[in-house]
Amino acid sequence: MMMTVMAEDSSTAVLSTLEGTSSEYENNLTKYIDADLRHDTKFEGGGQSDIFTAVLDCGKLPRGVSAFQQLYDGPATKTVALKILRVMANADSDRYQIIMRRLKRETGLWQTLSHDNIVPLFGVYQSPRSPEVDGLVMPLYSGDLKKYLAAHEDANKLLLLLGTAKGIEYLHTKRLVHGDIKPRNILVTAEGVPMLSDFGTSRILGMKGYTTNLTTTTTYTAPEILDFDEDDSKTSENKETPHPLSSYSDIYSFGMTILEVIDGRAPFYHRRAILVRQIVDGLRPEPKHHPGIDEVNGKIWILLGQCWERDGKLRPDIGKVMLELQCLAPLDAASSVEA
Ligand SMILES: Nc1ncnc2c1ncn2[C@@H]1O[C@H](COP(=O)(O)OP(=O)(O)OP(=O)(O)O)[C@@H](O)[C@H]1O
Ligand SMILES: [Mg+2]
Repeated sequence: MMMTVMAEDSSTAVLSTLEGTSSEYENNLTKYIDADLRHDTKFEGGGQSDIFTAVLDCGKLPRGVSAFQQLYDGPATKTVALKILRVMANADSDRYQIIMRRLKRETGLWQTLSHDNIVPLFGVYQSPRSPEVDGLVMPLYSGDLKKYLAAHEDANKLLLLLGTAKGIEYLHTKRLVHGDIKPRNILVTAEGVPMLSDFGTSRILGMKGYTTNLTTTTTYTAPEILDFDEDDSKTSENKETPHPLSSYSDIYSFGMTILEVIDGRAPFYHRRAILVRQIVDGLRPEPKHHPGIDEVNGKIWILLGQCWERDGKLRPDIGKVMLELQCLAPLDAASSVEA
């Protein structure tokens, strides 16, 4: 039986189809992908997924499918990144169904995005071990912002942050929320252009695991999300989980990203253990642990403090953050920023 529900997230307001199968994904690229998913061919591993390289045979794609439009004009074969969601193999059947529904909704939405600083989603993939879709297909980049900065000491950090901010501004203007902004989710092209990746994957996988202990992701996550209990919020078995992600929580995470990009040290890098409760109660990074900020401009702390306000409504919007970044940057860097 098929039924449709209105997604809980009013900002996305997309109709999602329940009890769908992978064949119903208009953007299913499985038949056109050549991938070797053995452990030793893994390109990278993240918190909840593994990244593989794969070859996409664009020449074989059926013509006239709107979801494939962006692939028609390129080369006949393309090396792509394949992100396999590890959680799918371990999920119990209730959780599996919930994730499948979210996957359909969020990937459908991601695929409609088109911006110079947002990683495009080419489509979805179903690995041989999975009865349903469990992978995302996207362009292959050389790495994320953390790696890029490590390899390019003289990189213009302000330009990289402003490019990222333009991607966030595009989403927020469309009343969409990214949900997982952090340096590892900002990929960088061969030309040095920052690209926001993993749009909506925190909504797909849920907040479980974020809240129990301090993962690397937790340190970028706004307190109102850390304080949220996914299980308590369920009112019925099939109801999508409401979540507290918002443009305000994106600003908090972008503040942590600004800190790390400019200073070079991750938030809370000096703490071996930290309780989520401490962040919820107001613990924030401090100047004494991040001297690199003062070397650029100590006033950045004022902006960061605003981004990390406990009450999301008191945080600046992305336009204000961009203006402040341009004003606070050293003159030589600011003058090279395009208007
Ligand atoms: N399209 C891509 N091209 C090149 N490298 C990628 C691509 N996608 C991801 N990576 C690399 O793989 C790493 C892991 O990515 P992944 O998204 O799985 O984990 P993560 O971002 O650390 O955590 P999360 O599971 O919260 O997204 C990234 O940090 C990046 O270095
Ligand atoms: Mg990621």
